[in-house]
Amino acid sequence: MNDEMKKKINDKYEASIQNAERFWPDSIYKDLLVAFGLFILLIGLATFLGVHPEPKVDPTDATYVPRPEWYFLFLFEFLKYFPGQLEWVGAAVIPGILVGLLIFLPLYDKNPLRHNSKRKVALGIMSAIVSAIVILTLMASTIMTNMIAFILFLLLAGVLFFSLYKNPEKEIAWKKPALWVASFAFLALTGVTYQQTLAMAEPTEEVHVASSVPEKMSLGQDLYSIECVECHGPDGEGGEITVTAADGTEEKLPVKSISSNDEMYTRSDESFYEIISYGQPSLGMPPFGGAHGGELSPSELEYIVTFMRYTWDDRADVPEGAVTSAVPVLAEGEVPSYEVHVEPVVKRQCLSCHREGKENNNYLMEDYAGILNNGDNAPNVVAGDMDSILLQTIQGHEVEGVNGTIHVMPPNGKPIKDAYIDIFIRWVEAGMPETAEDASALAE
Ligand code: HEC
Ligand code: HEC
Repeated sequence: MNDEMKKKINDKYEASIQNAERFWPDSIYKDLLVAFGLFILLIGLATFLGVHPEPKVDPTDATYVPRPEWYFLFLFEFLKYFPGQLEWVGAAVIPGILVGLLIFLPLYDKNPLRHNSKRKVALGIMSAIVSAIVILTLMASTIMTNMIAFILFLLLAGVLFFSLYKNPEKEIAWKKPALWVASFAFLALTGVTYQQTLAMAEPTEEVHVASSVPEKMSLGQDLYSIECVECHGPDGEGGEITVTAADGTEEKLPVKSISSNDEMYTRSDESFYEIISYGQPSLGMPPFGGAHGGELSPSELEYIVTFMRYTWDDRADVPEGAVTSAVPVLAEGEVPSYEVHVEPVVKRQCLSCHREGKENNNYLMEDYAGILNNGDNAPNVVAGDMDSILLQTIQGHEVEGVNGTIHVMPPNGKPIKDAYIDIFIRWVEAGMPETAEDASALAE
């Protein structure tokens, strides 16, 4: 700033002081008046218009998609420009930098001139940012398609780049870093919008989401069998678990029933959901929700809760078509098949231990071939052989294996139901048919 300009500004200031009003009480009085007016307006709006909240929360509605308020929609939309692990950049870093730039504006913008025509760069960049916010908001509310947004972003980027060149000297303005950054930022925005437009044009694969209660129950039953049976028992009846403390000592802890009326009547679906998601680490239950380090998604947690509620709560109206007992009863003279009878029993009673990642002598019982061929002591079942290891262990006999004693199965001291043992025996007897057709062919 040169002296001449300083003097000019000073003179202007002195002149304006001459006929200025006092802060106290004049300005304050006006402020109070306006504030009071706004206050009355707000009270009036609240009384006569009110807020219209969304309908009450419906915990059974899995299709609800939460959305931010309209004034945050641009941020919400902006997040789509970042892949999962980088969301924090879009959610915190970039907005943080922009707000920081605004806060520190007085420290780095030393331009003494106030008139808009003298602050083209700052105004230009700010207008571009505000336009981007408007465009993103419109995109989020689906008023604006990606294609139109792409064109607008391209235009904005074009204008910014053009302004780097458009000056009286007709030279590229190398020394305008803010303008360069803004130009390239808008170019990047354009690029990603274009990519998204292309991605949306391609048909995406349908993701199957269970929508009916029977469907959820059956998915929940499968998940429960795999994840929970080990500690809570196939019918949620509880039992005992062995916990290894940090110092290596083992301790047996009782697990109470989670299928009792006591439990069902006192816990809401939300509270079940929370417990399963969070676990009860202090009592020996690990977290299952993805948000807490577990491996289940929110919908999977919901399926488990649905299964528990409709299977164990005697007040629940089980919808038609729902399979409450996953194991069909074997009729007199009927030949059991893997598909219809054995698989449901294995799922409920054995799979929680006999799957990848558990201690089980490598006996993975996930499918037909696995049951026949897997295991350190394979084969554990042989068609027609009543001394098969599997039949022995489920009937309460210990067997010597290649790496020590194979315990009674299941090893938690609670034999499976006689009807289930019967299924295994009659299945081996008949030659271990896989499908229902195989079984009925054998029955003839
Ligand atoms: C490693 C063993 C283990 C596994 C696996 C496990 N839990 Fe638990 N769970 C526990 C223990 C221990 C408790 C505390 C029991 C008690 O207080 O008697 C518990 C408590 C609970 C409770 C709360 C009982 C209450 O009202 O206090 C629920 C509900 C529950 N588990 C459901 C599940 C479900 C559903 C799964 C499968 C996704 C599961 N648990 C898997 C060990 C386990
Ligand atoms: C609580 C966990 C658990 C459950 C439930 C369980 N098992 Fe096991 N199973 C084991 C373990 C551990 C072994 C390894 C041998 C041992 O320690 O007894 C094993 C071994 C076996 C073996 C011998 C495998 C080999 O090749 O050495 C058979 C057969 C078997 N189980 C059958 C079953 C059947 C059938 C069921 C369901 C009715 C079942 N198990 C349920 C934990 C379990």
